[in-house]
Amino acid sequence: MIDVAIMGHGVVGSGVAEILINHNDRISSRVKTPVNVKYILDLRDFDVPYSEKFTKDFNVILNDPDVKVVAEVMGGVNPAYDFVKKCLEKGKSVVTSNKELVAAKGAELIKVAEDNNANFLFEASVGGGIPVLHPITECMCANEIDEIWGILNGTTNYILNKMIVDNMDFDTALKLAQDLGFAEKDPTADIEGHDACRKVCILAALGFGKHVYPNQVKTEGITKITLDDVAYAEKFGCVIKLIGHAKKLKNGKITASVSPTLVSRDCILSGVNGVFNAVMLNGDQTGEVVFYGKGAGKEATASAVVADMMDCIKHLEKGKILSWEDGDNDYVDMSFDPETRLFVLIKSDDFDGLKTQFNEIFGGNNTNVKNAENGEIAFITEKEKLSAIEQKLTLFKNGISVKTLQTML
Ligand code: HSE
Repeated sequence: MIDVAIMGHGVVGSGVAEILINHNDRISSRVKTPVNVKYILDLRDFDVPYSEKFTKDFNVILNDPDVKVVAEVMGGVNPAYDFVKKCLEKGKSVVTSNKELVAAKGAELIKVAEDNNANFLFEASVGGGIPVLHPITECMCANEIDEIWGILNGTTNYILNKMIVDNMDFDTALKLAQDLGFAEKDPTADIEGHDACRKVCILAALGFGKHVYPNQVKTEGITKITLDDVAYAEKFGCVIKLIGHAKKLKNGKITASVSPTLVSRDCILSGVNGVFNAVMLNGDQTGEVVFYGKGAGKEATASAVVADMMDCIKHLEKGKILSWEDGDNDYVDMSFDPETRLFVLIKSDDFDGLKTQFNEIFGGNNTNVKNAENGEIAFITEKEKLSAIEQKLTLFKNGISVKTLQTML
């Protein structure tokens, strides 16, 4: 028999407990030993059939030598970091769904696990129930991965989808996402792109081999996206998605970003709707590979946590090869100047003057939509260096407002 513990009994933690307890025969037979949930750590009281398992004292778990595998599903960096590190130092394997913890401390915790012959696994931290981290490190390990794109946040994808399909404005869509339980009461981490940013850090670290810190990822959320932007995108055959992106550069560095992006209807990512997530990778042997599924939610995320616990049980005292180097300040090229096409929306009370300036600065050759009623011109630039596009945009005179969005075109 093997004893395990769960730290946290929120949405994901209760899902983990329910799978391990309600499907115990299935889990135990697949790891070839009875699995016993010995402790659940939470400061709150719960009226559940397994309430005798609760403890409020972390040290009960830490100091029980029979507990070999621990799931950390509390969220946040502290005290999760302290608890996880102490468990690993005692030789207990730890699995987590906590992307904030992995993005901030992943390289260090992997090293602590290695030094103590334990495992630190975190499949559930990216893409919820979608198997993506194991496939990167195992199934695709013969490849050189050079680029990663992803729709990594279910809440923002749900909101954007409502704006696109139902013409619902941002605030109403956010409120609906909260009412349905997708978005948190404080939705900042989702709508400002922080959650997607943490997932980009983890994907880039696993895919490219070196830790990437959240402050190295240029991050923009979806709060400035309007129904007008969505409608213009549609006119260019695109939908707006919050895209996480990381790419290896020729100079050995990488670039990483999260931004609202126009995605062509021809791209597979354009069809990822609602709370679903997708991760697309380019491997030098496989070419493009896409992982798709439920990126959030109790059962889907708990499924990935339990799978990691089962993996740890099958690899007790055998470190799995899952690691990356520590990061450094220079590794992410924050001033990288990509060749790109931008979506640009310019607006002025003087529509004739606006058209004249547009023709002078951008040559009038771009695909564009002119809307005299609103005094607006929307266009997609030719592909050129971002700095060159930005330089042209500075030439628009006072009285002209300029809004830009990234594209994947
Ligand atoms: N808030 C996250 C999302 C949960 O909406 O995708 C899963 O990480």
